[in-house]
Amino acid sequence: MYTPDDEKQIYELAKALLNIPRDLLNSDHLEDLKVAINYADWKYYVLDEPVLADVEYDTLFKSLKHLEAHYPELVTEDSPSQRVAHGLSERFPTVSHLVPMLSLDNTYNAEDLLDWDRRCRELANTDKVEYCVEPKYDGASVSVIYENGMLRRGATRGDGVMGEDVTINIRQIKSMPLYAAFDKAGIEQAEIRGEIVIHKKVFEAYNRLRTSEGLSPLANPRNAASGTLRILDPSEVRKRGLSAVLYHISDYTMKDGAERPVGLKTHYGSIQWMHQLGFPTPFMQMKVFKGIQEVIDFCGVFEQRRDDLPYEVDGLVIKVNDFAMQDTLGMTSHHPRWAVAYKFKARQATSKLLRVEFQVGRTGAITPVAKIEPVPIGGVTVSSVSLFNEDVVREKDLKIGDTVLVERAGDVIPYIVKSLAELRNGTETAIEFPTECPVCKSVLEKQADEAAWRCININCPVQAAERLIHYVSKDAMDIRNLGAANIQKFFDLGLLNDIPSIYEIDWFKISGLGGFGEKSITNMKHAIEQSKSQPLNRLIFGLGIRFVGETTAKTLASAVTNLRDLYDWDIEKLCTLEDVGPKVATSVYDFFNRHENREMVDRLEGFGVNIANYQKDAVVSGGSLAGKTFLFTGTLSQFKRSDAEAKVEAKGGSILGGVSAKLNYLVVGTDAGSKLEKAKKLGSIVILDENEFLQLINTEDQSVDSGSLF
Ligand code: IVH
Repeated sequence: MYTPDDEKQIYELAKALLNIPRDLLNSDHLEDLKVAINYADWKYYVLDEPVLADVEYDTLFKSLKHLEAHYPELVTEDSPSQRVAHGLSERFPTVSHLVPMLSLDNTYNAEDLLDWDRRCRELANTDKVEYCVEPKYDGASVSVIYENGMLRRGATRGDGVMGEDVTINIRQIKSMPLYAAFDKAGIEQAEIRGEIVIHKKVFEAYNRLRTSEGLSPLANPRNAASGTLRILDPSEVRKRGLSAVLYHISDYTMKDGAERPVGLKTHYGSIQWMHQLGFPTPFMQMKVFKGIQEVIDFCGVFEQRRDDLPYEVDGLVIKVNDFAMQDTLGMTSHHPRWAVAYKFKARQATSKLLRVEFQVGRTGAITPVAKIEPVPIGGVTVSSVSLFNEDVVREKDLKIGDTVLVERAGDVIPYIVKSLAELRNGTETAIEFPTECPVCKSVLEKQADEAAWRCININCPVQAAERLIHYVSKDAMDIRNLGAANIQKFFDLGLLNDIPSIYEIDWFKISGLGGFGEKSITNMKHAIEQSKSQPLNRLIFGLGIRFVGETTAKTLASAVTNLRDLYDWDIEKLCTLEDVGPKVATSVYDFFNRHENREMVDRLEGFGVNIANYQKDAVVSGGSLAGKTFLFTGTLSQFKRSDAEAKVEAKGGSILGGVSAKLNYLVVGTDAGSKLEKAKKLGSIVILDENEFLQLINTEDQSVDSGSLF
């Protein structure tokens, strides 16, 4: 259909189109956009070889729609925009839900709940109703179908009737069972509803990584979950650490002659049963109450505890427990009458944008921070909100003096949702970005592929202090008693100036400062001493090399026997490492080729800091599975266990004897027993079936050699 030359040309065309600001596009670009999108669709849908990043594809698609809105007469029947149903994404096939996905009616206070209870009792013709209460998860709702126990399909909510088929991504979610014993209970097909969420910690770590790479952070865990579900690269989805909670069996068909499982008479029973089948469910949080007053009391108590959960909840869902009564109550066209949401107080507020300050980070990135009129949101007074980078400010069209809507999602940092442009009175002023570093006055620079302006003066005092704070932080060298405040203080007093100086602090001067007793000095000394034997990956992470997060630091550490080995690695060799692309490789290369950084390594070693990788001997250098641990369990049908183990080891991975927190992958054959259960409980282990293992190892193979496995 396309010759290789065609492909090359269209690919260049797509990239060129992406570089044209949307306002400058005109009707002449319409045909090019269609060609580029059709080609990308073909690669994606027919060949399953996406050529564009999700965001690039979306940008092209939005540009097409933007132009077509301007030139409706030019919309043709074969335009890619005419393929999709309204409100659905362009990238995944659309599928019908077996039962429409309804939303829930909302309540906000005791009075609303009393009204709802009254209606339930009237319709069910009873005095008292038994209710089940569970968290309302703030994520992306999905519907999954199991056939004879196998996970067959996973779809987003879409418009409620049709959703997007995101099975491939749902399968990346480690907690989502690929098999559940519905078949053993006589159930042929089951449709299950639930929510895909991102734990707050995972979300924050991901945003830290994004901002360190100069990308805009994602707004909140909910957006992050629904965005991730629609990413085209399943391995990226896997890395993002999504979680699932399944809370409703919306439909099931029994095998001929089979009896309905006993649990399926109440909501509580059904969730308990799903819990036993191995699903992540609300079971542990769920409560049954005999009447509405107890429900109301519980809502008050739970709202206070909402931040204790590892994921976001925006309310509680109250469900009539008895299924027969649920059937009696039925549903309206929009929501079931047997369930209602109790929404927690909004964690949004409006405030005035007073001014913007510009802060310098460890890597020199300049972060605009909005100073707003202090406003209480969910029990915390917010007066300062990060705006991340210039693009965010432009996208949100923010102006000084604007009324802005601020949201605080749990303990996630607050962010500006939007400015209320309709409230402007003409006195608002544009936000001016500085051209010089606010601290050292060096001229700021911005790279073409980055959102952040940067101070590139390596001796900029703020950066130096931030580098020290990063070095001692928990995930780096973990020098606990020497926290950020102490570092800043010692730095300001000239008692610390660079990383190695931590190991030659003048304690005599510090004891003379006041405020530091003998005990706290002993503690600090002890923590500093202990840091000298931290593993190499922590040191590499602590050095604060741009784009090198914890994972890349581990990859780098396990590829060498000594930190200085990296002095000899060129960009090409660095790129052979897992997840190291040209950007990261260049940064690592530049770092180790700077004279002052090599001198720093010498000084650190001189102070006794470990720069060797003691675990290296167990690991094949640069192997694509370096540092990864595997265990095989159950009966394997597609390959011999010993062959598979040898292959893992040949690629630098290692085989563990049992399931523990150290295990990365458990490969499961049939009749897997306690090991699988234990791995599921631990939750941190990736469970693969044989096919997934083959896929993993063969994908790895493509980057190393082209021979096929087994
Ligand atoms: S039950 C037919 N339970 O909230 C009833 N929904 O607007 C199905 N949600 O679309 C919904 N947590 O995506 C139910 N524990 C929970 C929930 C929950 C979150 C979502 C769901 C629904 C939305 C309500």
